[in-house]
Amino acid sequence: MSQHYSVNEKVAIVTGGGKGLGKSLTLRLLQEGMKVAICGRTAATINETVAEFEAQFGKRIYGQVCDISDASAVSHFIQEVHSQFGDIQVLVNNSGFGKETLICETSESDWDDVMDTNVKGTFLMCKNVVPNMIKQKEGYVVNIASQAALNGYANAGVYCASKFAMVGLGKALQEEVREYGIHVHSLNPALIQSQKTPKDDIDSGLIQNDDLADMLVYLLQQPRRLKIDNIGMWGF
Ligand SMILES: NC(=O)c1ccc[n+]([C@@H]2O[C@H](COP(=O)([O-])OP(=O)(O)OC[C@H]3O[C@@H](n4cnc5c(N)ncnc54)[C@H](OP(=O)(O)O)[C@@H]3O)[C@@H](O)[C@H]2O)c1
Repeated sequence: MSQHYSVNEKVAIVTGGGKGLGKSLTLRLLQEGMKVAICGRTAATINETVAEFEAQFGKRIYGQVCDISDASAVSHFIQEVHSQFGDIQVLVNNSGFGKETLICETSESDWDDVMDTNVKGTFLMCKNVVPNMIKQKEGYVVNIASQAALNGYANAGVYCASKFAMVGLGKALQEEVREYGIHVHSLNPALIQSQKTPKDDIDSGLIQNDDLADMLVYLLQQPRRLKIDNIGMWGF
């Protein structure tokens, strides 16, 4: 029997799935036959993306406004996804952002904002989704980290700190859930041309959203006996 995992009809959550990279990851998971739920803080973005993909795929996409740094909002979102789609098999922690400031000039509120979304938000999503994966003895958590999770960059101190933390959280989680057959991956891309319009040329020095989407599906389809971690991606 093939050990390859079939994602068709499985349920995925993509945080920040309304725009940018998250929208492209959502599109690819829908193309693979998955049921996908997305969240973000901006209602218009979520509603537009849900309407666009529902028209394109002729099936229900679940979207909800949810600030992933808010514990009660995350709990409510996950309960709703369960009641709409059932058990969740794939969690893509994509929501995130940084601040371009020198460490000594970073305000306390900017520090808190970035850490609250990138680290606490990832933690809250895992805390609410993984227990049911443990019951299913099946699941994938894919954290969209960054090369800033492995390297230091000037003017990106809080972003680097948050992405290093995201990778650390994922590594610890992998150790805790390995016995239940749950895989935790970290995708660490360098710069992505993520807001490209259809008319923009591909910048060969930058990764494209589709490259990340391809890698996500590749990871989900590998034999479950394989452990794959810390995928680095760069423009070539
Ligand atoms: N672009 C790059 O070059 C690059 C490179 C490496 C890694 N990454 C990582 O890839 C991910 C996506 O980046 P992107 O370029 O697509 O950025 P983006 O276009 O700014 O999208 C970020 C997404 O996260 C959502 N988000 C932010 N804060 C949130 C919160 N508190 N709760 C829920 N959703 C939240 C945003 O929606 P709302 O604003 O509506 O909440 C948006 O959908 C990020 O984690 C980023 O760090 C990006």
